[in-house]
Amino acid sequence: MSERSFVMIKPDGVAAGLTGEIISRIERRGLQITALTKTVMVQVAAEEHYAEHRERPFFGELVEFIVSGPVVMMRVEGQGAIGALRTMMGPTDPQVAPPGTIRGDFALDVGQNVIHGSDGPESAERELALHFGG
Ligand code: RTP
Ligand code: MG
Repeated sequence: MSERSFVMIKPDGVAAGLTGEIISRIERRGLQITALTKTVMVQVAAEEHYAEHRERPFFGELVEFIVSGPVVMMRVEGQGAIGALRTMMGPTDPQVAPPGTIRGDFALDVGQNVIHGSDGPESAERELALHFGG
């Protein structure tokens, strides 16, 4: 079944020059990028994006990091897109992410883990509405 996901290359990934590599992996997997923009996210959008983590001790640091530089935001579509992208990204903590995954190949720190991808259909629709208006 075709699904939509919201994907974001985080400021560390953009700063490291990984935009092309990550877009290339998404395209080579056979997924369609149907919207794409590079921007510095405003504080309120970052807080809303990570609203589920508002009470967590790392929330302030997380928002500060996300607005610290340009990000590349994408709407990505295709069969089983949400799960396929989460598998390509690897686990949240790059220390345990296997080689071959984006986090396992390009990150070391849980706080700066290169990429975000929606964790389910409801998150995807919420995030796409927030950042792309749908
Ligand atoms: P994301 O939302 O960014 O795609 O990452 P995720 O689903 O794999 O992980 P999630 O649980 O949603 O956590 C969101 C982001 O918060 C940061 N984090 N820091 N210091 C910590 O213990 C900690 N735990 C999570 C990570 O940057 C994670 O991507
Ligand atoms: Mg998440």
